[in-house]
Amino acid sequence: MTQNPRVVYITGGSRGIGRAVAYRMARPGTVVVFNHFDPTPEAADETLAHLAQQGVTAEAQHFSVADAGAANSHLEAAAQKYGGLDVLVNNAGLTRDALVLRMKEEDWDLVMSVNLKGTFLMAQAAAKIMVKQRRGAMVNVASVVGVIGNFGQANYSASKAGVIGLTRTLAKELAPRNIRVNAVAPGFIETDMTAHLPEKARQAFLTSIPLGRAGTPEDVANVIDFLASEQASYLTGQVIHVGGGMFMGA
Ligand SMILES: NC(=O)c1ccc[n+]([C@@H]2O[C@H](COP(=O)([O-])OP(=O)(O)OC[C@H]3O[C@@H](n4cnc5c(N)ncnc54)[C@H](O)[C@@H]3O)[C@@H](O)[C@H]2O)c1
Repeated sequence: MTQNPRVVYITGGSRGIGRAVAYRMARPGTVVVFNHFDPTPEAADETLAHLAQQGVTAEAQHFSVADAGAANSHLEAAAQKYGGLDVLVNNAGLTRDALVLRMKEEDWDLVMSVNLKGTFLMAQAAAKIMVKQRRGAMVNVASVVGVIGNFGQANYSASKAGVIGLTRTLAKELAPRNIRVNAVAPGFIETDMTAHLPEKARQAFLTSIPLGRAGTPEDVANVIDFLASEQASYLTGQVIHVGGGMFMGA
């Protein structure tokens, strides 16, 4: 009898942290499915080509996590095709920064709908599948600024604070069904998201990091991989800060 593969679904897996998670979790016997919402397919194709080179079955889907119908149908299709869903990594996210006094309502709405509602919709769709299996793990990508706040990021920090609250509620509701839900809160990580930061903001971040360097997508992927694994079987509802010590509180 052939064993079912371990099916890992990653949102926003075309680039940055999501791509690093895909590479980290791509082991023999694992199927990696990821989505993205890039306007062009190049980054997703590159991720797929790398995974194919590793001999791992992989698939990319293009839709917005803020679209409830698409979230449900794509996750369901992946679970049907590969025989279940073991792990959901809710990583997709974006920023639309502005000081509160200048922030446009549409930028508030967009960031909340992708970062927070998108995480909820994907978690809900995954929960429907995992509850039936009576097993599964989810890891949500929050942010240190969801805990400490940040200039110019009222929408983003509120969305990430929401992800933390959502993570803990999901953890409580789903624990009786043998589903664990945890979060990582990255600090300052070198990706497309942070590539265009003004030099002043960049320096401010760097001076606030005790370990003295920006993080890499792999630094975050290592912790996500751990939280999704059996090694973390007694952890749920936790928020692990991956920020070089930028924040050391509870
Ligand atoms: N880079 C950092 O310093 C940092 C710090 C803390 C938290 N984070 C969080 O980590 C996650 C990944 O960030 P990154 O730095 O790798 O960003 P990135 O911009 O490099 O990649 C973002 C990914 O999300 C996808 N995405 C964007 N909008 C989407 C949507 N509506 N539906 C589906 N996919 C969508 C993109 O297609 C892409 O694959 C985000 O949730 C981000 O908020 C990043």
